[in-house]
Amino acid sequence: MKKICVIGLGYIGLPTASVFARAGYEVLGVDVNQKVVDSLNEGKVTIEEVNLPELVKEVVAKGNLKASVSPEKADVFIIAVPTPIHEDHRANVDYVEEATKSILPYLEKGNIVIVESTIPPRTMDDLVAPILKEGGFDPYNDIYVAHCPERVLPGRILIELIENTRIVGGLTPEAAKKAGDVYRAVITGDVVETEAVTAEMSKLMENTFRDVNIALANELAKISARLGVNAHDVIKLANKHPRVNIHLPGPGVGGHCLAVDPYFIVEKAPEESPLIAESRRINNSMPDFVVEQVKRLTAELDHPVVAVAGLTYKGNIDDIRESPAMEIAHMLLDNKRYDVRITDPHVSEDQVHFNLQSFSDAISGANVLVVLVDHDEFKQIDQQELIEKMATPVVFDTRNCTGIDNPGITLYRIGDLKKLTAIQQG
Ligand SMILES: NC(=O)c1ccc[n+]([C@@H]2O[C@H](COP(=O)([O-])OP(=O)(O)OC[C@H]3O[C@@H](n4cnc5c(N)ncnc54)[C@H](O)[C@@H]3O)[C@@H](O)[C@H]2O)c1
Repeated sequence: MKKICVIGLGYIGLPTASVFARAGYEVLGVDVNQKVVDSLNEGKVTIEEVNLPELVKEVVAKGNLKASVSPEKADVFIIAVPTPIHEDHRANVDYVEEATKSILPYLEKGNIVIVESTIPPRTMDDLVAPILKEGGFDPYNDIYVAHCPERVLPGRILIELIENTRIVGGLTPEAAKKAGDVYRAVITGDVVETEAVTAEMSKLMENTFRDVNIALANELAKISARLGVNAHDVIKLANKHPRVNIHLPGPGVGGHCLAVDPYFIVEKAPEESPLIAESRRINNSMPDFVVEQVKRLTAELDHPVVAVAGLTYKGNIDDIRESPAMEIAHMLLDNKRYDVRITDPHVSEDQVHFNLQSFSDAISGANVLVVLVDHDEFKQIDQQELIEKMATPVVFDTRNCTGIDNPGITLYRIGDLKKLTAIQQG
């Protein structure tokens, strides 16, 4: 039975390691964070993901999954470390570099090395391969090196790891085949083999496609606010065209994928990617747009109480990385005009370094409730409670998720600010 070493035990590495361990492989999970390693060896997880705690407990108890701060000899090495961006939006591939170097002392001819981290185009050829070469291996002959990007949806990771189609880009066709076989043994989805650079670009273009389309919807929302149009009606009608699918506008794009990956392309081909770069700028401008609408909604009040619901970058997860909701919360907190009360049932205070309240406390006495995340809890808001507890039952639903229909509540949405425009135009 093959031994697999998974480097990086975060949202991707830990579920991946657990899935291979469940299939009977001997898996060593490696992380530089001692806390993550210690928890895992106790059968506990440090991240929130559906059904993961149960699976980890099971595979650790069976002895199939162990954790350590350093790698060991294995047949397959899977690298799933972060690839964030620097302040200036350049890719930070330092973790990939470190992780690749960390396996060198344990690597042997015939091993398979897979990078799952999302990486800028040509990283496998220009960064990973040279490191392996310096370590004394010919990356095109001695070992099988491939990029296999991950496209799972947080909240459904354990399902999608098994069911999604995997793209496996090898430095050589043989490497693609060998790495593909690693996944074929445990997943039910298709495994498609290609070249490393094509796999890198395909992953980046998936997220770029979505980012650009969200930017278009956000631009429509801004145009609609200017012209007094309901963008949601426009989208509904336009999407009746058989080949049109306009996305929904929102408070911005967050997370470590959609808000990051397009920059990897822009960095490598800036002249050729003005649309991608502009889409990033449009989506980055949405937190300002939201705060501007909160200002308009509370213009008549001296010290408005603003309840903020949701901090994560998307619904039903605990991840606040690159979250536009966090940016909006900070902007509101920094403005002393507002008394800001923040609630998020999926986020703890040590993640955010400011006070959090229960939903009920946050809305009590509030002049406006700004919903920034489509958590299930906010999709089932008790509308009567809003009427009873808020000072003025006004909701700004930036995710179009609350389904508020009680005439006692004034509802605004991104893309549907007609009422506000009408009030202010007198
Ligand atoms: N989370 C997602 O939904 C998702 C989806 C698709 C792709 N990705 C990509 O997968 C990669 C991993 O993302 P993640 O969300 O799992 O990150 P994460 O931050 O949740 O976890 C990464 C882990 O790697 C560890 N680490 C960092 N450097 C290390 C090293 N040199 N050796 C060992 N461990 C190290 C960190 O301590 C951390 O625990 C990124 O490139 C990301 O863009 C993530």
